[in-house]
Amino acid sequence: MTKIPEETIEEIRSKTDIVDLVGEYVQLTKRGRNWFGLCPFHGENTPSFSVSEEKQIFHCFGCGAGGNAITFIMDIENSPFTEAISKLAGRAGIELDVSFSETSSSGRSNEHQHMIEAHTLAANFYSHLLLNTVEGEKALQYLEQRGFSREHIEKYGIGWSLDDREVLTQLLERKKFDMKEMELAGLCIMKNDGTGYFDRFRGRIMFPLHDDNGNVVAFSGRTLSNSKEEAKYLNSPETPIFEKSRLLYNFHNARLNVRKTGKVILFEGFMDTIAAERAGIMNSVAVMGTSLSDTHLTKMKRIANQLIICCDGDKAGWDAAKRFAVLSKQKGMDAKIALLPGKMDPDEYITTFGGESFAEKVIGNPHSYMSFIMAYYKRSKNLSHENDVLQYIHEVMEELAQKISPVERDLMIRQLTAETGVSPNALNEQLMKKVGKHAKQQKVMQPEGGQAIPMAVSTRKVSGIERAERLLLCHLLNDGNLFDRIRDDHEELFFREEYAAIFIRLAGFYEKHGMPDFHRFAESLEDRELRKVVMDAAMLERDPDFAEQEIEDCIHHLKRQRINRRIEEMMHESKEAEKMNDHTRALELAREIIQLRKSLSAM
Ligand code: GTP
Ligand code: MN
Repeated sequence: MTKIPEETIEEIRSKTDIVDLVGEYVQLTKRGRNWFGLCPFHGENTPSFSVSEEKQIFHCFGCGAGGNAITFIMDIENSPFTEAISKLAGRAGIELDVSFSETSSSGRSNEHQHMIEAHTLAANFYSHLLLNTVEGEKALQYLEQRGFSREHIEKYGIGWSLDDREVLTQLLERKKFDMKEMELAGLCIMKNDGTGYFDRFRGRIMFPLHDDNGNVVAFSGRTLSNSKEEAKYLNSPETPIFEKSRLLYNFHNARLNVRKTGKVILFEGFMDTIAAERAGIMNSVAVMGTSLSDTHLTKMKRIANQLIICCDGDKAGWDAAKRFAVLSKQKGMDAKIALLPGKMDPDEYITTFGGESFAEKVIGNPHSYMSFIMAYYKRSKNLSHENDVLQYIHEVMEELAQKISPVERDLMIRQLTAETGVSPNALNEQLMKKVGKHAKQQKVMQPEGGQAIPMAVSTRKVSGIERAERLLLCHLLNDGNLFDRIRDDHEELFFREEYAAIFIRLAGFYEKHGMPDFHRFAESLEDRELRKVVMDAAMLERDPDFAEQEIEDCIHHLKRQRINRRIEEMMHESKEAEKMNDHTRALELAREIIQLRKSLSAM
C-alpha cells in the first residue's frame, strides 16, 4: 500500500465540494436543503439520489448506494483509493508527490505535468503580449472592435503570439523545459535541419483550450489577416494532454451553470461561446472542429437533461446541426435546435441584434427535433414544384417515421398537408408503409429492439435483523470504546456475511487509527458492496443520549435471533433423526431445545 499523508487527504477533502463533484456526473436540482438527481448507480426514472451539501455525503434511497466525495469517485470510476485521491487532488489543484500518484505510469504523469506547466506559462506569456505590449496593440484593437471586453479577454485568457520565430521556444528553453517534450506537446516544431526548434504559433490571437479541470492543454490561434491563403484558425495537434474528441471548449467554466439550468448550449465555434456570454449565456460549450464525439455527448449528458444545438446559418452550419441532432438523439438526449436567420453565425447575430434578442428569440425559442428536420429538408426545396414536394415528403418521412411519437406524427402530417396540399389520408398511408418497412428491417437486424432493459430496483425491505445490525454497526463506527467492549464479549454478533466481514476490518482499523472515522474506514475498503453497507449504516440517525439503550437492544435482538435460528436448526435436525429412527439423538436434541427456549425467556 502506498502512503498518502493524512493532511493531504484532509486538504483534498476540504477543497472538494461533493455537490460540485457529483454534479459533474449527475444532473442535480436543489430541493430544500439537499440536491436531488437520478442515481448513477442504478437505472431509475424518479430521483431517489440525494446529495447533502452540509454533510458532504450522497445517498440513494433506491439502491442503498452512499458515501463521500472520495468513495463516490471510487464507486463511479471503479478506481482504488489512491487513484481517486490523485484525481481529486488534480481537480482541487493540490500537488501530490508523484511517488503515490499515477502508480501505473509514473513517467507519464510527470510528462503531463510538464506539458501543462509549459502551456500555462505560454498562456501567461501570450496574454502579457496582448495586453501590455506595443506588438499586441493591433490584435487588441481587433478584439475590441469585435466586441470583446477587457473582462472577457482576461477571463478566457486570450493572448497574442509575436510574429517571431522563436520567442516562446527561447522562453521555454530558459525555463529548462525538455524541448523534446515541448515538441510532443505541440508548442514547438523541430527545424528541418534538426538544429533546434521554432514556435508553432506566430502572429496569431491565441485562445487557450482548457481541460475539465481548467488546465491549459492546447491553443487555437486565429490569424489577423483576411487572406484565404492562410488557415483562419491553427489548432494544437493532438498530444498526450489534448484530444480533440474529448475536449469541449469552456466546459470547466460552464459546468456549474449547466447543472443549475439543466441545459447545455452547444456551438460549432468557440468564438460563439465567448460571444454568448455577452448575451448572458453562461452554460455554453463548443466543439473544436466540426465533429461531435460520443465522449462529448457523454460529458454533456451527465450534467444536463437538455441540449440546445446552435450552429451557423450557412449550409455547413445546417449540416452540422443535423449531424449533432441525430447523434444526440441516438444518445438518448433531449436535443433542441436553435436556428439563426440567413447565413448568420451566433457571434454576428449578437453583434447585430444584441444579446437580449439572441437569448430570447434564438436560444429561448429552439425547434424540436421534428420541426428542425422538416425545416432542414424544406430549405433546399421549392415547394411549388411537384418533384420537390415528393422529394420533401419522402425525406421527412424517411428521417422521422421511426423516431417520433404518435402525437408528433399527427403534427407532422398536419404540417406537411399545410405546406404541400397533399391530403392527410395519402400522407398517412405513405407513413404507414414507411413504418412497416422499418419495423421489418429492424426485426431482422436486432430481434430485441436493442433497448436497454431497465434494471430492476430492489424494493429494500429491511428485516428486524438487518435493522439491528445496521444500527449496531452505526454505533460501532462512531465509538471505538464500544467496539473494544463488544469485540471481547461477542465474537459472533452479526448474521450476514458483509457485516461479519466489516466487523473484522473495523477491528483492524481501530488497531491502526485508534479513533473512529467512518469516512476513512469506508475509503479503506476496496469492496464496493462493503463500502455501501458502511456508509448506509453511518448515515443512520442514532441518538447519542440513548446510545447505551440502543446498543443493548440491538445486541439483545441479535442474540435472540441467533438462538431462535439455532432452535430452528435443531428442530430440523431432530426431525431428521426421528426419520432415521435415531431416538437417542432426537431426545438429546429435544433437551437442548428446551434449554435454549428457557434461556430465551430468561433474556
Ligand atoms: P470568426 O471568423 O473568427 O468569427 O470564427 P467563427 O467562430 O465564425 O469560425 P467558423 O464559423 O469559421 O468556424 C467554426 C469552427 O471551425 C472554429 O471555431 C474552428 O474550431 C473551426 N475552424 C474554422 N476555420 C478553421 C481553420 O482554418 N482551421 C481549423 N483547424 N479549424 C477551423
Ligand atoms: Mn464568426
